[in-house]
Amino acid sequence: MGCGTWAWGNRLLWGYNESMDEQLQAVFDLCVRNGVTLFDTGDSYGTGKLNGQSEKLLGRFTTEYQDVGKENICIATKLAAYPWRLTRQSMVSACKSSAQRLGRNVDLVQMHWSTANYAPWQEGALLDGLADLYEQGLVKGVGLSNFGPKRLKLVQKKFQASNVPITTLQVQYSLLSTYPVTELGLKDVCDQLGIKLIAYSPLALGLLTGKYSDKGSFPKGIRGLLFRQILPGITPLLGCLREVAQSRNKTMSQISINWCICKGAIPIPGAKSVEQARENIGALGWQLDAGEVAELDRAAASSGKKMVQNIFQTK
Ligand SMILES: NC(=O)c1ccc[n+]([C@@H]2O[C@H](COP(=O)([O-])OP(=O)(O)OC[C@H]3O[C@@H](n4cnc5c(N)ncnc54)[C@H](OP(=O)(O)O)[C@@H]3O)[C@@H](O)[C@H]2O)c1
Repeated sequence: MGCGTWAWGNRLLWGYNESMDEQLQAVFDLCVRNGVTLFDTGDSYGTGKLNGQSEKLLGRFTTEYQDVGKENICIATKLAAYPWRLTRQSMVSACKSSAQRLGRNVDLVQMHWSTANYAPWQEGALLDGLADLYEQGLVKGVGLSNFGPKRLKLVQKKFQASNVPITTLQVQYSLLSTYPVTELGLKDVCDQLGIKLIAYSPLALGLLTGKYSDKGSFPKGIRGLLFRQILPGITPLLGCLREVAQSRNKTMSQISINWCICKGAIPIPGAKSVEQARENIGALGWQLDAGEVAELDRAAASSGKKMVQNIFQTK
């Protein structure tokens, strides 16, 4: 696949507007120069008049980038299991549209979510479409997102029959969302099946950076509402993170991202500015020791509040 071991998530959701594009291009350039070459996007990122904007931007940034590491850039997109996508051909067409917006082929195509929780009959054809993309050489690899261990095993069996390997599985995984690993056991299943685990929202949407507190200001919209509910219950976890960060001379974001790496996952933190990206890149090149990881694990396990799980996450 030629993917890096660390990545930048480009969701363009919380507070994005087009005046940020120059800053985002600077983030992209900084990442690639520092060996961060896997970029995660989705065909549902950017709605309304901004339809497909994240893919369009990543395509433009990739084309315009002319420095070291260009050949290692790996674009991973996620195709939404929209209710109107019902046939295998609809997935092939969707991926072709993504490639058009990107101005290049998609490297890793992922199914954004499983429909098993609400329309299980829809899923088979969409998965067939993913396999078609691989077999037709339109993508280098195939991945899944928000699939639990039972669904993952079923898909693996289905794909095995036609020799289509599953390269990655992407789930919400952070110190505030340990559920996919501690309760669903997904890391072990991925290891058994030779699948790489990608940790999305590794900073719990920004809660683990330490910059938000229940006394301070909250972000706007749904994220603010969510933070209001969660922050009062996570003071001990944030305290533990802060202590480890201070003793390591790192930031809380760097500790949170490094914890994901120590767990054998590939974190894809979102960054809105060059400063955030630079800080997050500082999570690379060193590792927390076993004692620190255990301390963080204990704080995470006893946390009074956790991140809400994605409604599409299956078992
Ligand atoms: N497969 C799926 O269903 C799914 C779902 C969600 C996300 N994802 C993927 O995962 C990627 C990352 O997830 P996410 O953006 O939801 O959550 P995240 O990475 O946990 O949080 C990112 C947010 O935290 C803040 N931040 C990041 N670095 C910071 C730093 N060093 N210091 C201070 N604040 C910092 C920024 O927001 P503020 O500056 O506004 O605080 C940023 O937008 C997405 O872009 C997407 O590619 C996938």
